[in-house]
Order: sequence, then C-alpha cells, then structure tokens
Amino acid sequence: MEVDDDSSSKQLLARLLGLQTPLLRLRSLNRLLGFDGAPVYVKYEGTNPTGTHKDRAARAHIARAVDLGMDTITVGTCGNYGVAISYFARQAGLRAVIFVPKSYENSRVEEMKRYGAHVVFVEGTYEEAVEISSRAARANEWYDANPGTESDEVSTEAYSSIAREIISVLGDAPYAVSVPVGNGTTLVGIYLGFLRAYREGEATRIPRLIGGTTSLGNQIAASWRRGSAEPIALSRSEVRETPVNEPLVAYKSFNALEALEAIRVTGGRVYEFSDEDMLEMAMLLRVTERISSLPASASSILALKRLLAEGEVEGPLVAVVTGRWRRLKH
Ligand SMILES: Cc1ncc(COP(=O)(O)O)c(C=O)c1O
Repeated sequence: MEVDDDSSSKQLLARLLGLQTPLLRLRSLNRLLGFDGAPVYVKYEGTNPTGTHKDRAARAHIARAVDLGMDTITVGTCGNYGVAISYFARQAGLRAVIFVPKSYENSRVEEMKRYGAHVVFVEGTYEEAVEISSRAARANEWYDANPGTESDEVSTEAYSSIAREIISVLGDAPYAVSVPVGNGTTLVGIYLGFLRAYREGEATRIPRLIGGTTSLGNQIAASWRRGSAEPIALSRSEVRETPVNEPLVAYKSFNALEALEAIRVTGGRVYEFSDEDMLEMAMLLRVTERISSLPASASSILALKRLLAEGEVEGPLVAVVTGRWRRLKH
C-alpha cells in the first residue's frame, strides 16, 4: 500500500489537519486481480474518527442539530452510523438516542454506550428501527438523522466531500468510483459531489458510479437487475441478513430512487456478492496491501473487478472502503 507519490505531501498535510481521508494506490492487489493497465485507488474511510464514512454525515447532522438549538438526536442503525452519531453527539453535548435491531450482530453497541448514547433495542429489522426512530423524533421533537427523511440533503452534502477529495488528489475525476451500497445515500452524495465539480469546471468528466452490495437482498440491486428505473418492492422474506452483510442488506433502500438514477445516468452498474467473496477480498486487502477493511465495504473492490471483466476501462478506478475489521462470531 502506498500513497501516490505526486500527491503524498498534499495528502499528508490535509490528513494532519484532519481534513481528508487518504487515497491509497494499490501496488500488489491490482496485479493479482488483473488490473494491469488502470491505476486502482482505495479511498480509505477507516481513518475517520469512528472508522467509517458515516462520520462525515454524523458530523454534519450534529452541527445542524446544534444550529437548530435541539438537544437530542436520533437514528436507527445497524451499527456504524449509530457509533458515528454517538461520538459527535458527545463532543457537542447532545443526547443521542440510537435504535438498533436486537437480532443484529451489534458488536458496536458497547462503543455507542461508551460515548454516552441511550441505546434502544428494537424487535424487528433495520428498516423498522429507522421508522421507529423517525416516529420518536416526531413525537419528542428530536433531531431526526435517519435516511429517507428531510435530513437526506445534509447526508448527501456531507458525502459529496468524498468526490472533492478524490479530485483534489487525482487532479480530475477518475473513470469509475465504486461504493458499497445499502440505502444508496453514500453513492448519491458522491455522485452529487462529482456532478457539482463537473459543472464548476473542476473535473472534465463524471465517473461511472458503481455499486457493490450483497447477493442476499438489496432493493437497489434487485431493481437494477430487473432493469427498473423505479425501486421495485421487495418483501422481508426476500432478504437475509448475516453478520457480514448487515450494512448492505435492505428490502427497503431509503435512497433507492436517487441511487438508481445516479448509476444509470453515469453509465454505472450494480454488482452483488456473497459473504464469502467479501470476506475473502477483505482478507486479500489486508495481506497484500495491509489495509484493514470491513468485509462489507470490500464489495466495492469486487465490483471494480467485475467492471474490468466486462470491458475496457479508460482511466483510474477508485473503490470506497471503510475500516473497522472485526472478528465475526459465527
Ligand atoms: C461499512 C458500510 N458500508 C456501506 C454502507 C451503506 O451505505 P448507504 O446506506 O449509504 O448505502 C454502510 C451503512 O451503514 C456501512 O456502514
């Protein structure tokens, strides 16, 4: 693993200032995967304070909640977003009420509590935890940081900074950016960041937006597979969550419509992967590049490999990867 030489000092300065996550150029894994021509980068979100890109959205929501004079913030979460909200809420002196599905893996609940969050276990799915959290926000006048609400604009704006940071290092937009997809919020934010940069003349193109997700059920993937521009309805029984795919599995992806549009207009794709494939890719990333990743997020690298197998790529490829490797209890 190496930071691209040309940009290393600029990146180092920005990282020292705590402003951006590193863009790491793969040196060994790219050859192993057959990416001989195009340079491949990992936008490594593991250096964020709680280890994932969710910190970007959480920081922005807490700032807005403070501006609005609110004292409590709430989300439904499968883990990473809840930790991020708890962390920044504590820093700002806000109360965080985090709803988590009781049946989920929940390895990050202790961290939420350590940051002082009030954790409520929900008998139900992630989607239900989000809906219960939103209802509680309306009933109690709490700040609602859930996806699928008017807060989405704050989240997508926060994630758009990923696009700006990539352009600041590469000098232009890459050929394709691959993103792990659950609700699609992150992918939409990154797309909007590139769109803005293109319109403002900071980039000469908009990259193909590629989604990597679980093969065990995701609304965006299912809609894409059936060629539907509109999100198709999935039932709960059509998805199966596991400790590996929890951040990605979704019978309802709260930002499906916008994500499908972003993928379609950029000439992107959605690819689906098994837990075994994601675990294996995370392991490879660790062994060959010394990058510690959450297996679900390694779906973005698998997706680039599939893209390459489908034909020519014309320029750099970027995969968004989060940190927080953890041993899974199987
Ligand atoms: C590690 C990781 N990757 C991907 C996602 C999916 O992001 P989004 O719901 O914005 O599509 C999440 C969401 O929790 C996540 O924690």
